[in-house]
Amino acid sequence: MAHAHPGRTSARHPGWPARLGPLRVRAGVVALRPVRLRDGGAWSAIRIRDEEYLAPWEPTMPGGWAERHSPGEWPARWLQLRSAGRRGTALPFAVTLDDRFVGHVMVGNVVREPLLSAYVGYWVDSTVAGGGVITGAVALVVDHCFSRVGLHRMEATVRPENAASLRVLEKLGFREEGLFRNYLDVDGAWRDHACFALTTDEIRPGGLTGRLVAAGRAERVHSAPA
Ligand SMILES: CC(C)(COP(=O)(O)OP(=O)(O)OC[C@H]1O[C@@H](n2cnc3c(N)ncnc32)[C@H](O)[C@@H]1OP(=O)(O)O)[C@@H](O)C(=O)NCCC(=O)NCCS
Repeated sequence: MAHAHPGRTSARHPGWPARLGPLRVRAGVVALRPVRLRDGGAWSAIRIRDEEYLAPWEPTMPGGWAERHSPGEWPARWLQLRSAGRRGTALPFAVTLDDRFVGHVMVGNVVREPLLSAYVGYWVDSTVAGGGVITGAVALVVDHCFSRVGLHRMEATVRPENAASLRVLEKLGFREEGLFRNYLDVDGAWRDHACFALTTDEIRPGGLTGRLVAAGRAERVHSAPA
C-alpha cells in the first residue's frame, strides 16, 4: 500500500527531535543530533575559514560572508532552526565526527499528506571532506525520514558542477529526475540544478545505511548504554 509507513504516527512532527548513529566511516565516527546553541563557536570558525569552499554552492544572501557567519549570528539562526523543527517543517541536524561538530544535514520543506516529501541539504568542514562523513550522515537521515518521520519522497538538488555532492548522491543511489533551469540564486547568479530523488519503494531492506555497510563504506557502531 503506497501510504503505509512503519512508525508513522498522528503526532505533528514524528521523528523529531532525534539522535542518529553512530556510524563508523573512513574519517571516524559520525552521528547526528539537533543543532544546539553552543554549536555557535565551531559553526562560525568553520564557516569563516571555509568561505571559498562553501560559497560556490550556497544560496546568495545579503551581507558579507564574515559578517553573516560571526559567532553573534548563530543564536538567531539557531532559534529559527529550532522553531522550524518544532513546527514540523524541518529537521535541522548537526553532524558530529568523533563527537565534534563538523557540519549540517538539513531536511527542509517538509510537506505532509498527501505528498509526504522533503528536501535534504548538507555541508561539512573542509578538513574532513572526502572521508565519507556526509554520505554516512545522509544515509542515516534518509533512513530516519522514511521510517520514524513517515516521509515518502526525499529530494536533493545539486549544481551539475558540484562533483563531490553528485558523488555523495551516486553512492547513496539517488535517481536523477531532471534539470531545474535557473533554479536557485547561488554565489551571485541564478544557477541550473540537477534534481535527484528517492521514494520509499526504491529502498531495500537495511536502508541506505545497510547499503553503505554492504559496500564496505561504513560500519555500525553500538553506542554504550546511557
Ligand atoms: C559535498 C560535501 C557535503 C561532501 O561531503 P563529504 O563528507 O566530503 O562526502 P563524502 O566523503 O561522503 O563523499 C564525497 C565523495 O566525492 C568525491 N569527491 C570529492 N571531491 C571531488 C571532485 N572534485 N571530483 C570528483 N569527486 C570528488 C570524494 O572522493 C568522495 O567519493 P569517494 O568516497 O568515492 O572517494 C562537501 O564536499 C561539502 O561540504 N562541499 C561544500 C558544500 C556543498 O557542496 N554542499 C552541497 C550542496 S548540494
